[in-house]
Amino acid sequence: MKKEQDISELERKFQEKIDQDIKIEPKDWMPDNYRKTLIRQISQHAHSEVVGMLPEGNWITRAPNLRRKAVLLAKVQDEAGHGLYLYSATETLGADREDCIDDLHSGKAKYSSIFNYPTLTWADMGAVGWLVDGAAIMNQVPLCRCSYGPYARAMVKVCKEESFHQRQGYEIMMALAAGSVEQKEMAQDALNRFWWPSLMMFGPPDEDSKHTKQSMDWRIKRHSNDELRQMMVDITVPQAEAIGLTIPDADLKWNEEKGGYDYGEIDWDEFWNVVKGNGPCNKDRIDTRRKAKENGAWVREAANAHAEKRKARKLRRAS
Ligand code: 3HC
Repeated sequence: MKKEQDISELERKFQEKIDQDIKIEPKDWMPDNYRKTLIRQISQHAHSEVVGMLPEGNWITRAPNLRRKAVLLAKVQDEAGHGLYLYSATETLGADREDCIDDLHSGKAKYSSIFNYPTLTWADMGAVGWLVDGAAIMNQVPLCRCSYGPYARAMVKVCKEESFHQRQGYEIMMALAAGSVEQKEMAQDALNRFWWPSLMMFGPPDEDSKHTKQSMDWRIKRHSNDELRQMMVDITVPQAEAIGLTIPDADLKWNEEKGGYDYGEIDWDEFWNVVKGNGPCNKDRIDTRRKAKENGAWVREAANAHAEKRKARKLRRAS
């Protein structure tokens, strides 16, 4: 047991490192709450990547042509890879991967609200790539400078892939917006449905965000939820205009003084309702993940049995 005085000295040195932008590595001393905050955020992030495969996986067999199918397939596989890096990053903090996944399946752990909305048409693949991956990049590029080394490094590759995802989504929207009247309507309808939920991805407004202050002091987060949301709006509005689509917000207006757009009220009741598990697809998403785990049990057992056999053979040879 360390004395209180020792702990405050360790905390002082820890914060000094953070303030000098020196990365914290797995074996370094860190306050319990820093560790807990990271496990919470990184595991939620991992769950979001994995649950995020479902709305898009739904369209792989229905993509309009072989090129679109191959690209979507690659994208969904990337998300699986992101989930794996992130679960590994939680393990560097001492978390148990199986426990994290069980928490997701029991409803204890959160994942991004956005993945509880249905993907109804092919244009939704465009809107998801453009807006959802767009919002993910906006949030994750600053995470490449997060104070925890393994998380920051994982984010570098993730962000490169996310920017390809954003491009593929925008390119789908460009093609639809330049297509027939029906195709353009389909793109507009997808934008109408995904716009507000995408802005909700950044989390509650700053005044209701219980973790932001501490996470910014620890340089886990580099920007507040509202700052990132504003950046997203400012970047996305001209992109919509460029392809002739309309952002579904009657209050959207350029504000010269702040050098950004003013935008309408976000429906935070809807957000919290989805976060609490009552969104249109929450139940379906978790049921699907649970079934995937059950159906994959034999693969894990077989892989473990094979690994045991190889180990035994190696030992026999060595003796
Ligand atoms: N969906 C669900 N829950 C959310 C949420 C959202 N969009 N935004 C916030 N919350 C939850 C928080 O997890 C927290 O709950 P908890 O205390 O039970 O953990 C609560 O609401 C209060 O929010 P805070 O703002 O205080 O929480 P944070 O400081 O952690 O900020 C965050 C929230 C900005 C999402 C931050 O955790 C973060 O940057 N996370 C890493 C990135 C991430 O997880 N992105 C998810 C999308 S990944 C993705 O989209 C995949 C891609 O392939 C498209």
